[in-house]
Amino acid sequence: MGLRDRLLQHAPPIGSSQSYDDYVASGGYQGLKKALGMEPDAVTQMVLEAGVRGRGGAGFPAGRKWSFVPKGTGKPVYLACNADESEPGCFKDRQIMERVPHLLIEGCVAACHAIGAQIAYIYVRGEYPQSIAALEAALVEAREKGTVGSDVMGSGWACDVWVHKGAGAYICGEETGLLSSLEGGRGYPRIKPPFPAVEGLWRSPTIINNVETLANVPLIVRDGVEAFKSVGNDDTTGTRLVGISGHVENPCDVEIDPATTTIRDLIETHAGGVWKGRKLKAVIPGGSSVPVMPADAIDVPFTYGAVRDAGSLAGAAGVIVMDETTCMVDALLNLMQFYHHESCGQCTPCREGTGWLEKLVTRIWKGEGRPSDIDLLDSVADTIGGAQNGKTICFLADSAVMPTKSFLKHFRGDFVAAVENGGSPVWKAQEARRAKVSA
Ligand SMILES: Cc1cc2nc3c(=O)[nH]c(=O)nc-3n(C[C@H](O)[C@H](O)[C@H](O)COP(=O)(O)O)c2cc1C
Ligand code: SF4
Repeated sequence: MGLRDRLLQHAPPIGSSQSYDDYVASGGYQGLKKALGMEPDAVTQMVLEAGVRGRGGAGFPAGRKWSFVPKGTGKPVYLACNADESEPGCFKDRQIMERVPHLLIEGCVAACHAIGAQIAYIYVRGEYPQSIAALEAALVEAREKGTVGSDVMGSGWACDVWVHKGAGAYICGEETGLLSSLEGGRGYPRIKPPFPAVEGLWRSPTIINNVETLANVPLIVRDGVEAFKSVGNDDTTGTRLVGISGHVENPCDVEIDPATTTIRDLIETHAGGVWKGRKLKAVIPGGSSVPVMPADAIDVPFTYGAVRDAGSLAGAAGVIVMDETTCMVDALLNLMQFYHHESCGQCTPCREGTGWLEKLVTRIWKGEGRPSDIDLLDSVADTIGGAQNGKTICFLADSAVMPTKSFLKHFRGDFVAAVENGGSPVWKAQEARRAKVSA
């Protein structure tokens, strides 16, 4: 098995959590011990050299982010672990939290040492009660054993870790929305700059990292930079945890070498292939916010660069598979209902624009669309612009725009057919059922 299954290598089966003793027996907390014997900057340097990129979606190098924390401000520094896992199609972080919770706790404490923090908050999605329970139980053990608390591993240094239950909104996964929520306010994203590394929780420097990003830290420190980089390639170092769902025989999470595993391998080898012997129509590779890919584009390794070059994004590694019977108008409507509902409403282009997108797709879906609606949909998506173009505070608006534009680019035929044939086949089937029931 070697390095290929590093994060989950010693994980017990789904449904059970690894105890402190089993974690230690499998080499756990050695990374933290080693980190505590190093200068904080040396730990950051290791993470920088390992090249680990953020696993929450944007792929920003973790070591670089840590290096932005200003020194000597006199303010406390915080670590906020993003365990909101709210992106549709993503369910990988719960594997770590529920099966190897000590790995995340160790990663949080080691990261705190590196950035000069003494408190880490793990902001867990409210709909993940098992993850919350597993982390809380592991924290009780960690405090008893002294890997968290007033004298971490006998070093004389204090560091605590708290679990915070999320409030159930997608926007609380956006890093500054998460901070607002953690402070007790509404999950409203904040304008950047200032970036959280400079001004985050209670206006103090705060590093926000995804669960999987932090879970890599103990292994980087314990086994060394070269061991970490021996998996993946220069663009995407280390393993990736990927969730595969939708129209596959075996929806699952897998830990892969991103340099040698293609999207086709994920579907055909790991998830048992497209279900019911059907053909593949489309794949959204990185969670619902990224561009959709047509079936003929999936022979690419699951690295950030390769998936980007193929026209999409590896994002938060939630691979959503759609079979040949999928109506893409219906699939896009599902997404637009979600993004409109989850828009926090602070920015007009997002608040109004996601509503317009939903209305337009609904019109086409229900057979009330005009031929010009297809281009109108494309142009509304362009007008929203998003954070990429400085028109909105956060990237939620872009998350609605990217699927819309790519659905139209690759599957325009489905939209034209819905306009010409009186609506989506899904709408027509629903109408037929309704008529039967009321007859
Ligand atoms: C609308 C929205 C939702 C997000 N949801 C999550 C999430 O659930 N989990 C996560 O780790 N990152 C999420 N992100 C990305 C975070 O803003 C942030 O980039 C990430 O937590 C940083 O950690 P990383 O560098 O380790 O990836 C979201 C971003 C946006 C715009
Ligand atoms: S882009 Fe949308 S979700 Fe993000 S802050 Fe603006 S209105 Fe809120």
